[in-house]
This record gives sequence, structure tokens and C-alpha cells, in this order.
Amino acid sequence: MTSILVTGGCGFIGSNFIQLVLEQEADVQVVNFDALTYAGNLANLSDVAQHPRYRFVHGDITDAEAVRAAMKGVQSVVHFAAESHVDRSIQDSGPFVRTNIVGTQILLDAARSAGVKRFVHVSTDEVYGSLGETGAFTEETPLAPNSPYSASKAASDLLVRSYVHTFHFPALITRCSNNYGPYQFPEKLIPLFISNLMQDQPVPVYGDGQNVRDWIHVRDHCTGILAVWKRGRVGEVYNLGGRSERTNLQLTHALLEALGKPKSLIRYVPDRPGHDRRYAIDCRKAESELAWHPTFVFEDGLRQTIDWYRGHADWIASIRTGEYLKYYERQYGTLTKETHP
Ligand code: NAD
Ligand code: TYD
Repeated sequence: MTSILVTGGCGFIGSNFIQLVLEQEADVQVVNFDALTYAGNLANLSDVAQHPRYRFVHGDITDAEAVRAAMKGVQSVVHFAAESHVDRSIQDSGPFVRTNIVGTQILLDAARSAGVKRFVHVSTDEVYGSLGETGAFTEETPLAPNSPYSASKAASDLLVRSYVHTFHFPALITRCSNNYGPYQFPEKLIPLFISNLMQDQPVPVYGDGQNVRDWIHVRDHCTGILAVWKRGRVGEVYNLGGRSERTNLQLTHALLEALGKPKSLIRYVPDRPGHDRRYAIDCRKAESELAWHPTFVFEDGLRQTIDWYRGHADWIASIRTGEYLKYYERQYGTLTKETHP
């Protein structure tokens, strides 16, 4: 039996990862260390809360004492905990610097003194910046983050890299494209638009809607992280992607069609400041070295995701209240009028 400390396991990707590990890895125990910020939700793991190989610890990665205590008896760390939303980082970058940079440093130090054997740092393709019409990010692409969120993630990546170089610390880094799937907090594009459309509310498209993202189903991301944990080479970076590039407008039309809603629900709103134009990922290194491949066809994954949100109206309703509504008002105001790009 081996034990993994998962940070941020109550968030979107972390909760999917824990479910995958408990399902597929009979010899792995999971300690989930999460601060339960606005994005963390214990309900995401209610199905496994009583699982004999699962334990939850409520704690903050910027609290060195709590991290040190949680690290006892753990052989690996898979580090998801982060402030993860670009728009919130534009409103206030403070929590991003604290959690993503300082929190990662505290975690690295604790893991080093505990003699952790493997540390997987979950990062993002956004650290590479923005692409033109063609090309894709490789692991050699220079880091050029453009938002406070991606800058804080790039800083954490560089800290991890420095620990490998300076201390021979056994860390690996993954950089993945945009995830979608069950349990994603409804402030990111896909769950926000699905939950608005389910209530016949308008959907806010930034700028001209021609920004491009590469979409990967969260399950494919999680199998990629597991492959990196099992078979990755220490000190290496592995890009993970879904080979499913779509403009935001293409995606919006697909969602409207799948939910049977009219195009008149689209609202073009002012562009995000510093909005990255295009992301695309070259994930051939992970495919050839780790025998990992993204498996979801985007349209099938999207349909499955819509079905999940339709079947979890209570989960959505429990989030879309209080602080969430205040954030929504701050970010979007009221989306009443019909608009054009
Ligand atoms: P999320 O916002 O849904 O979840 C973040 C989790 O971290 C929450 O459970 C939250 O409570 C916890 N957390 C936040 N601050 C904490 C702290 N100080 N101490 C302990 N726990 C804390 O995020 P997500 O979408 O699941 O992303 C997880 C990781 O994957 C992040 O590191 C993110 O940068 C990376 N990533 C995300 C995507 C994506 O499309 N969502 C793509 C590539 C990489
Ligand atoms: P998002 O889900 O926030 O992910 P990221 O910014 O990390 O890529 O946004 C995905 C794309 O959708 C991005 O180009 C911004 C755009 N977007 C909108 O047009 N409207 C919205 O309300 C949101 C949240 C995002």
C-alpha cells in the first residue's frame, strides 16, 4: 500500500482524480488536503467519503504546520490546490500569489523534509502565453504568462523546477489544456453556459468570440496525471491536451443546439483584459513516453457533461447563491439587452 497526499481534492479536477484513483488503484490510499475555498466542495466526493482508503483533512497549503502534519506517512504528493480562475485573478491577484506561489513553496519544503518519493505538480498550458493562428505549445516553448493566474502558475512551475535542480527533489510537472466535465465550478465557460441555459438565462461571450481553446475531458486529464505519477521521468514536463480546438463561439453554438435554446440568448460583452487568443497543445511526448492518449470525442464528452449538469440541478443550485451571485454581478452586471459583436 502506498499513500498519496492530494491537495485541492475537493475542486473540479482533484475530485475527479481521487475518484479515478480509488476506482483503479487498489494499492493506493488517498489523503485529500483542501482548504474548502469557494471552489472546494465536499459534496464532490460524497460517493467516496466513507471509502476505507480515503481520508479528508481540512487545511490550507499556506499553513506550514498543517501541511507538515498531513504529510506524515505519505510517499507521494499530487498537487492540484490553486486559485484557478483567470477572471478572479484580474479582479484580485492577492489570493493567487498566496496560494499558487507561497502555498507551493510551503508544500515543496514540507515534502522535501518528509522524504516524499514523488511530487506531481499539476500546471496549465496557460503558462506558455498565447498562440497565433497556427502551431502548438511544446514542452520547450518559453514561458510567457499573460494573466495574474498564469503568472502565478508559471512562478510555481519554476519553483518546482528549481527544487529538482538544486535539491534533486523528485518532482514532475504536467501542463494541460482547458478541462471540461462533471463537477466543474460554474464560473468557467462550459458549466457557466450550461447552467445559465438550463434556466433560459443569457450567456456572456467575451469580445468577438473567436478566441480558441483546446478542450480535454477531465477524465483524460486525470488518466494523464496518473500515467505521469506512475511512469513519468523525474524533472520532466509533460503537456496533456485533448486535440479538440474550438472557438468560443463554435462551442457556444454547440451548447445552444444541444440544449435546444435560441441564439438570441448570446450576449457579446466587453473582452477580458489581456485575453489570450489561442491555446493549442502538442502532447506527443506524453503519448510516446507514457502510452497515454486522450480518448474522448469532444462532442460525446460535451453531451455527457450536459447530461451530468441536467441530472445535478441541486448541486448547481447549492453553488449559485450568496457569494457566487455577488461575483456574478461584479463580473457581468445584468445581462439583459441583446448585443452584437
Ligand atoms: P478548482 O478551482 O475547481 O479547485 C481548486 C481546489 O483547491 C478547491 O477544492 C479549493 O478549495 C482548493 N484550494 C484552493 N486554495 C487552497 C489552499 N490555499 N489550500 C488548500 N486547498 C486550496 O480548480 P481545478 O479546475 O480543479 O484545477 C486544479 C488544478 O489544475 C489547478 O492547479 C489548476 O491550475 C490546474 N489546471 C486546471 C485546468 C482547468 O481547465 N480547470 C487546466 C489545466 C490545469
Ligand atoms: P475559462 O473557462 O475562464 O478558461 P480560461 O480562461 O482559463 O481559458 O474561459 C474559456 C474561454 O471562454 C476564454 O477564451 C474566455 C471565454 N469566456 C467567455 O467568453 N465568457 C465567459 O463568461 C467566460 C467565463 C469565459
